[in-house]
Amino acid sequence: MNFEEMVSSRRAVNFFNPDKPVDPSLVKKMVEMASKAPSSFNLQPWNLIILTDKEDKLRLQKCAMNQEKVSTAPVTMIVLADNHGFLEGHPTVERVFRENIKAGTMTEKQRDWFQKARIKLYGKNERTIQAFSCKNTGFFAMALMFAAKSLGIESHPMDGFDHDKVMAEFNIPENFYIPLLIAFGYFDETKSLSAPKWRKGYDDIVVRF
Ligand SMILES: Cc1cc2nc3c(=O)[nH]c(=O)nc-3n(C[C@H](O)[C@H](O)[C@H](O)COP(=O)(O)O)c2cc1C
Repeated sequence: MNFEEMVSSRRAVNFFNPDKPVDPSLVKKMVEMASKAPSSFNLQPWNLIILTDKEDKLRLQKCAMNQEKVSTAPVTMIVLADNHGFLEGHPTVERVFRENIKAGTMTEKQRDWFQKARIKLYGKNERTIQAFSCKNTGFFAMALMFAAKSLGIESHPMDGFDHDKVMAEFNIPENFYIPLLIAFGYFDETKSLSAPKWRKGYDDIVVRF
């Protein structure tokens, strides 16, 4: 399947075959593939809670408008955007800095510049912080869905959930925001998929002000 075919055939699949698990090696592979997604300064402010246990998925379903796909999908992920992912001292930030030094793309002298640039760009207010974490995590989430598709696995992104309830139910630390949940699995062949949805065309998308 080439990329155009993959993009065109990916659908938000409503019905998953609950009896067809996703091999854990494929879950790992799709996460590793998605990790290649781009991010600001390569800061990768994303994490995942991966649920495969039925009870866990039912707990999540209760916080997600009782959407059945949350628990019928063999794998459902809580996608986390880390609002602290640009701050000095954050382990990933430190690692990125060290890796840049190792690769010769930064020098120790640039630590101060690197910190000031991150704070200036993202640390202005709640909006810039949330934009930082969610835009980068959005790229990761899309990469995850395409990675899944390339491995023959269907997906369904969801923001129909009570954010604060999910935070509490899964003991998620306050520095995270949950942009979406994603269900993964194989299509339930006893059901039919709705017709492909309308999309804005080139002329609708391109604007000038
Ligand atoms: C961020 C995001 C949140 C979504 N939330 C839900 C949801 O909670 N429930 C649902 O049934 N579909 C949800 N969808 C799926 C969209 O309705 C679907 O992607 C859109 O209608 C286009 O259909 P397609 O993906 O099959 O082409 C969501 C999609 C995205 C990207």
